[in-house]
Amino acid sequence: MPKDDERMEWSNRSECVDLRSLCDLSRRRVLQGGTAVALASLGLASASASSSRLLGFRGVPPSTADTVVVPEGYEAQVIARWGEPVGLPGHMPPWRADASHSAADQAAQLGMHHDGLQFFPLEGRSDRGLLVMNHEYTDEGLLHPDGMAHWSAEKVRKSQAAHGISVVEVTLRDGRWALVRPSRHARRLTAFTPCALRGPAAGHPLMRTAADPAGRTVLGTLNNCAAGLTPWGTYLSGEENFIGYFAAPTLLDAHQRRWGMGADWGYRWHEFDERFDAARHPHEPNRFGWIVEVDPFDPQSMPVKRTALGRAAHEGATVAVTRNGRAVVYSGEDARFEYLYKFVSRDAIRPGGAKANAELLDHGTLYVARFDADGRGRWLPLVHGRGPLTAAHGFADQGQVLIQARQASDALRATPMDRPEWVAVNAVTREVFCSLTNNSRRGTEGFPGVDAAHPRARNHMGHIIRWREEGDFDGETFTWEVFLLAGDPMNARTEAQGNIRGDAFANPDGLWVDPRGVLWIQTDMSASVMGRGEFARLGNNQMLACDPATGEVRRFLTGPCGAEITGATMTPDGTTMFVNIQHPGEPENDRSDPAQPTQHSRWPDGGRPRSATVAIRKRDGGVVGT
Ligand code: FEO
Ligand code: CA
Ligand code: CA
Repeated sequence: MPKDDERMEWSNRSECVDLRSLCDLSRRRVLQGGTAVALASLGLASASASSSRLLGFRGVPPSTADTVVVPEGYEAQVIARWGEPVGLPGHMPPWRADASHSAADQAAQLGMHHDGLQFFPLEGRSDRGLLVMNHEYTDEGLLHPDGMAHWSAEKVRKSQAAHGISVVEVTLRDGRWALVRPSRHARRLTAFTPCALRGPAAGHPLMRTAADPAGRTVLGTLNNCAAGLTPWGTYLSGEENFIGYFAAPTLLDAHQRRWGMGADWGYRWHEFDERFDAARHPHEPNRFGWIVEVDPFDPQSMPVKRTALGRAAHEGATVAVTRNGRAVVYSGEDARFEYLYKFVSRDAIRPGGAKANAELLDHGTLYVARFDADGRGRWLPLVHGRGPLTAAHGFADQGQVLIQARQASDALRATPMDRPEWVAVNAVTREVFCSLTNNSRRGTEGFPGVDAAHPRARNHMGHIIRWREEGDFDGETFTWEVFLLAGDPMNARTEAQGNIRGDAFANPDGLWVDPRGVLWIQTDMSASVMGRGEFARLGNNQMLACDPATGEVRRFLTGPCGAEITGATMTPDGTTMFVNIQHPGEPENDRSDPAQPTQHSRWPDGGRPRSATVAIRKRDGGVVGT
């Protein structure tokens, strides 16, 4: 989601003395050459001219064109646009170019603002499978013919229906991908689909509401951002910046303040759906901000919010597997000065798919990351009864620790980060990467200073960190380094230059390591900065490929005007990569003028701009990226 620096959430006002001293220590380390040490260990300082053997394509230049550009020898085909029917048998309402389709239609069509996605092959095939994707948020100026005028229950319902998750079946015939409609797999999950709560916080008093006194069933999932895949065949979706959907009470308590309540994103759902009025239903926000697990192969299955993984503005969830078969789930929290988490399952993954592992993510240990100035780090357990996480400090039980994971992480003095977004794991080299998209407040008056893991003040450009766990993926300690500082070397301001070896970019967000070990990087420059100032030479948002062994970065794709590039997944044979193009034409204020829907983009079809998936193939049928 492209959040303007000026409006991005900042709720971490914990007065942590150690934080300040750590920042000061870290500043000294950077001044003494800490960054140079980190770069030397990555091979960046030597700036070797050798070309990567992993990256077999010719890079594309930055672009400001309202189209998707891929390298010579590749083609990008648009499928799965917002508003197309997903293929529910007997209910396939067509797209209407003026967006006059109803809320009921929208609940049977692909949602808006596509984000993370995953391909699930059917019978192991590379020409038929399920695409499961998130729909992060909506632009009400495009969603309704007259935007937010004459605001109504129907418009709220349509907005909610355009959120959530889609499951579509896709097939490849004669080199072209198409949706299979109808399909028994087709499904829409929306902001009003019943979801189960499981794990230690399910049924907790803080989860109970008037409509759900048991605290075990939530209506809907929303602001679904990045997407993960489990080895047992399910889909994980992060509920990201959920707080802006709730109308705040006049007086906020400490818990509400810590979670940023009052940041009104203008959805106005509460006017016709009172559960989004936190003054009347103060526990309803506690039921969002979770990792949601979906079994795409069982359309009847209820999505499950896995509370053992903690509550956060979860960007997503990325799974690694320990040598003894346990699942480790990494998740960043996309907000300024918030945290990076990992969950380690108690039990090993069982053979037998989703049904056999239906409770795997309900039992285990949640940790939050601390990055120390010496290049080592520690995972701090968020376990009730340990350290400060006791009743004496306001944590009654494990459920409360998980619901108030930010407060628990503050108490453990975890490292406040520069908006940690996607996490990518290379299971072979055992490297883990995390994108830190930006943080304009870092090191400015009244905010935390630079530290070793966040070495730039006014971090407008973002960076990527890399670590290796000591022992296995469940290790409680790790070694880390700054992998790459994004930016444009032509910029005058030193902090905006970066140290990219190869093609320049800013604001890394989506990250994915493909089976060959390529680190794919997707950018999310907001419309308020794109094409101007220090971002002027970077063009539209883009996707780049990086060889982690050499640090070389090469631009693979450029997107249409105003769009963010997000989500990457491949068929098992690697010959098709699916990528999402989110919010083409998005204006600076995130909400389009309904009178001029095509003002900023006409992608993909020449009319109203629509988020969509692109299927990228090599014309010679080879593996994408080679
Ligand atoms: Fe949903 Fe952090 O982007
Ligand atoms: Ca983003
Ligand atoms: Ca994102």
